[in-house]
Amino acid sequence: MSVKNTLASFAVALTIFGGIGMAGAAEKAGEHHDKSHVERQNWSFGGLLGSYDKAQLKRGFAVYNEVCSACHGMNLLSWRNLMEEGGPEFTKKELKALIAEKEVPAEPNEEGLTHSEEDGSRLMRPALFTDRMLSPYANEKAAMTANAGALPPDLSVIAKARGIPHVADNSKPSAWYAAPFYGLMEYAGWIGGTAKDIATQYQEGGADYIYALMMSYADEAPAGVDVGDRSFNYVFPGNAISMAAPLGTLETGADADKDANKELDAKSRDVAAYLMWASEPHLNARKSLGLKVLIYLIILSGLMYAVKRTIWAGVKH
Ligand code: HEC
Repeated sequence: MSVKNTLASFAVALTIFGGIGMAGAAEKAGEHHDKSHVERQNWSFGGLLGSYDKAQLKRGFAVYNEVCSACHGMNLLSWRNLMEEGGPEFTKKELKALIAEKEVPAEPNEEGLTHSEEDGSRLMRPALFTDRMLSPYANEKAAMTANAGALPPDLSVIAKARGIPHVADNSKPSAWYAAPFYGLMEYAGWIGGTAKDIATQYQEGGADYIYALMMSYADEAPAGVDVGDRSFNYVFPGNAISMAAPLGTLETGADADKDANKELDAKSRDVAAYLMWASEPHLNARKSLGLKVLIYLIILSGLMYAVKRTIWAGVKH
C-alpha cells in the first residue's frame, strides 16, 4: 500500500470514528441532563454573523446594576462606555439618570484632605461619565472581610476568563462494541469538535458558563457533600461557592414556581450577555469586518485564478 493510500485510509477512519464519537456525545447529552455539564446556549452574538442584542445588553446591565454591583466592580469600564456603538447604547439622558445616585471617592479637597475631619470617613463626590465602574469596597481586604474571606472578582473580563471544555467530556460511548475504540474515538471526536468550533467560530464559552453558574445553585448539597457555610453549585469547580445565589435558585419538582424559574432564566441570560459584551465590546465591528474580508478574499482568489489562466494560456503543458 502506498503512503498516499495509507494516509487516505487513516483520514477515512478518523472521520468515521469521529462521527461515531460525536453522535455518541449528542445522544448522551440528550438522554439525561447532567447538571455538572455546562450546556451551550444560543446567543445572538454567536456564529460567524452574530451581533449583540442592544435590548438584552440593557436588561443585562440593569441586573448587574441592581444585584451584582453590590459586590462586584467592573474596573475596566467607564460609565461612558455604556453609550458606545455596539454596546447597550444608552442615550446621554438615560445614562445621566442611571448614575445620578452613584458616588466615587473624591480627589483631595482644597485642604488636601481625602477623609472627613469629623469621622474619618472617605470623602465622596458624584460620579461622572468618565469614572470607572468601581468595586463597592475600598480595597480587597475589605471585600474579603465582607464576603467570608472570598474575593468577589472584578467582572470586566470575566466572560473571557472563564470558559467550558471544547467538547463535552461526557462523550464516552455507551455501546459495547465501541468501547475498545474509545481512546481513538475520543481523540477523533476532539478533532471533529474542534474543527466544528473553528468553522462556526465558537467563542461563547464564558457566557455559557456564567449563565450555567447562575442556573446551577441547589438549595441543599446532595447527600454526603458538605459545603460548610458556602453554597452548593453544580458547575462551580469544587461545587462549594462563597457567593450565595445572587438571582435565586432554580426550583425543581412538581410544585416548582414556573414563573420564578423563567425570570431566573431570563435574568441569567441577560447578565451573561452583558458580561460578554464587557469582555469583548467590539465584537459587532469585528464580525462584520471579518465577513467583508472573507468575501473580498474569495473574489480576489477567483480573479487571481483567472489571471493565472490568461498568463499561462499560450504555454503547452
Ligand atoms: C453578596 C455579594 C455578591 C453578589 C451580590 C454577587 N456576587 Fe458574584 N461573587 C461573590 C463572591 C464572594 C465570589 C467569589 C466566590 C468564590 O470564589 O467562592 C463571586 C464570584 C463570582 C463569579 C466568578 C465565579 C468563578 O467561576 O470563579 C462570577 C462570574 C460572579 N460572581 C458573577 C456574579 C453575577 C453575575 C452577579 C449578579 C447577578 C453576582 N456575581 C452577584 C459575591 C457576590
